[in-house]
Amino acid sequence: MGRRKIVRDGYDKIASQYAVKRTANSEDIQLLNLLVARLQPRSKVLDAGCGSGYPVSQFLSQYFQITGVDFAAEQIRLAKTNLPYSTFVCSDLTRMPFKKDVFDALVSYYAIIHVPRQEHSRLLVDFHRILKTGGLALLCLGAGDLPEDTADYLGTEMFWSHYDKETNLRMMKESGFEVLWYKVVGDPIDAASAHLFVLAQKLA
Ligand SMILES: C[S@@+](CC[C@H](N)C(=O)[O-])C[C@H]1O[C@@H](n2cnc3c(N)ncnc32)[C@H](O)[C@@H]1O
Repeated sequence: MGRRKIVRDGYDKIASQYAVKRTANSEDIQLLNLLVARLQPRSKVLDAGCGSGYPVSQFLSQYFQITGVDFAAEQIRLAKTNLPYSTFVCSDLTRMPFKKDVFDALVSYYAIIHVPRQEHSRLLVDFHRILKTGGLALLCLGAGDLPEDTADYLGTEMFWSHYDKETNLRMMKESGFEVLWYKVVGDPIDAASAHLFVLAQKLA
């Protein structure tokens, strides 16, 4: 099976189960306050790889206008039910249908790590393209080197791929971002793993 199909079919299958495991008060969710402190109310924020919308889009929707993107149809169905006043689009992150300079900020939690890492640099450049100048990106990236891995996750086959912290920070800069802050944060579902969270700004 192709790597994309493994991820998409997997999240279609475990959509509800995954949402139940997410928590609304873990450190990753508290980090969203980095955006709350910096953006105007009602700013346009993209949640890239939004899943069911819980808890990331849901938290952000208290302050901002949210658009969510995910390629798993069941995740999008749940997101539309959970957050009827936000906009959700079923699309691959690597082929998003947005014009340039649209969003004031974007977040992407635990999604880029499921995209083959050879595509990460191009994805970051596309994130940069759709942000307004001065826009903010709060991204969850790999903390360690993982060329690719396929394993069981919550009873389904799953695929991961990412670079290490230093490479990811370098790629952010090469994509035109200024890195404002970063931290390796423990995974709230899997205590054995941790990820790099980066807050960056689109330079002119
Ligand atoms: C681990 S879940 C995280 C969901 C949500 N961001 C959260 O923090 O709870 C990863 C999500 O990313 C989506 N995803 C992974 N690769 C994607 C891609 N190439 N295009 C669109 N969505 C993708 C999956 O379908 C899944 O819903």
